[in-house]
Amino acid sequence: MSERSERVIGDEALRGAPTWTPNPTELSDLELLLAGAYAPLGGFLGRDDLRSVAATSRLVDGRPWPLQVKLEVPAGMLDGIDVAEAPPLVLTDAEGAPIARLDVAEVWPTREGWCGVAGPVTAYGDGGRAPFDRLRVPTEHVREQLTAQRVLGYFADRPLHRPQLAQLNHAARQLNAQLVVLVPVGHPGPDGLTSESLVRCVLAARDRMNEPVIVAIPLTNRGDEVTDTLVRARVAAAYGATHLLGTANTMSGGGPRVLVPRELVYDSRDGQWRDRDEVPERFERIALTDEEIAGLLDDGLPLPEWHTPPAVARELSKARPPRRQRGVVLFFTGFSGSGKSTVARGVADALLETGERSLTVLDGDVVRRELSAGLGFSKADRDLNIRRIGWVAAETARHGGMAICCPIAPYASARANARAMATAAGADFVLVHVSTPIEVCEQRDRKGLYARARAGQITGMTGIDDPYEVPTDAELVLDTSEGSIDDAVDTVLVFLGEEGWINPRS
Ligand code: ADX
Repeated sequence: MSERSERVIGDEALRGAPTWTPNPTELSDLELLLAGAYAPLGGFLGRDDLRSVAATSRLVDGRPWPLQVKLEVPAGMLDGIDVAEAPPLVLTDAEGAPIARLDVAEVWPTREGWCGVAGPVTAYGDGGRAPFDRLRVPTEHVREQLTAQRVLGYFADRPLHRPQLAQLNHAARQLNAQLVVLVPVGHPGPDGLTSESLVRCVLAARDRMNEPVIVAIPLTNRGDEVTDTLVRARVAAAYGATHLLGTANTMSGGGPRVLVPRELVYDSRDGQWRDRDEVPERFERIALTDEEIAGLLDDGLPLPEWHTPPAVARELSKARPPRRQRGVVLFFTGFSGSGKSTVARGVADALLETGERSLTVLDGDVVRRELSAGLGFSKADRDLNIRRIGWVAAETARHGGMAICCPIAPYASARANARAMATAAGADFVLVHVSTPIEVCEQRDRKGLYARARAGQITGMTGIDDPYEVPTDAELVLDTSEGSIDDAVDTVLVFLGEEGWINPRS
């Protein structure tokens, strides 16, 4: 029987109870709480515990705990409610299906319009479903399967190639330990691997390990390495790990012992992976770097069998097809009149002629007529416009297409968000900064907008009285004042050809 079917589905007491969809981080925390992965925590922390954790990495009662597990809801939801009589809160997934009930123990104001809520959570309802649900198991189910005295935990942030497998198996053998492999899901993995691809890659290596228990957990990095390491140790311990194979060298609070893996090299004499000093140099092969692996996949070349089990290589090449077949977002940014649309149109026309890629063009002006009708030019409206463009582009690229976008996109954070959406869809993102100086754009003034801005008839014109944040992460920079449009189009096509997204230009 699956875990989900054991949940309480209907509960009269919760009919009409206030409902709230937590943000993605809070939802991850909620799932980990429900799974028991945050033991000893059974719910969202209260104000005193949060303060104590921030100051001392301990709960008020002195137990070590590294992470501020907190939940915020709009203040209006619990306005005037006496906590003692507060109804339970129903928490839902992003689609609005219930996942949990929270019995409110404490409410306090946080920032304008929001309040913190603390209290224990219990699984409720049938929401929160996700791919590989069967691997998102509660800690108690995993612990039931563990019979050995020692349990080696491992976080598979990336696919398992032979060197990682050798390290893992070596450590498990030495400890005589059972293996628990925890796959972090819910956010894109390295090199744009989606969570599902990462899980598939790990499953493909399953028979190369000694009866591992494989668990998917929605553990997202919080950016602070120390906290992330400590949280991982806690979670691994909750899943029964007595040891953890990782790179951290310090640990507090009595978590699992952390083992630092040694570098192994391939011994071409017998195909074993050994400590580097045991293999004469002429027989050793060093593990491929992430860049080398990505490079082979990008070019559609096979990963060598001495390095990667064929089943893993197959999953990887499915997840990261050669660039010619992979979705890509070609994102032009620059002032109005810089030549973005014209260059983009030229690139699109050339590719339509050869028919080598399936294309969607999201031109700034066209998008504003269709997708973003009604939006103005405030920062919020521009951000929303770019968000919409980025979203559509990522969906196009998810299916292997090429999306060509050419809005002004003056804000770095909005561009970064568009890049993140493409990456999360398993696609590539190429930022082209059309850097034609504002003086030249103003002189061209094809639409007469600059003249009107100078005359004070319009305000908030990018480059005149509105900001443009110059990209520092552009893959390509073009200045159309320095050459012809055809030259600029060629530059883009040559770049795309050299980097492998289209056939090389002759
Ligand atoms: S963005 O800032 O949201 O990326 P977008 O590319 O969609 O802008 O739209 C820019 C187009 O709107 C310009 O090419 C120009 O024709 C027109 N436009 C009208 N008002 C403004 C303004 N205040 N700033 C920039 N562009 C404007």
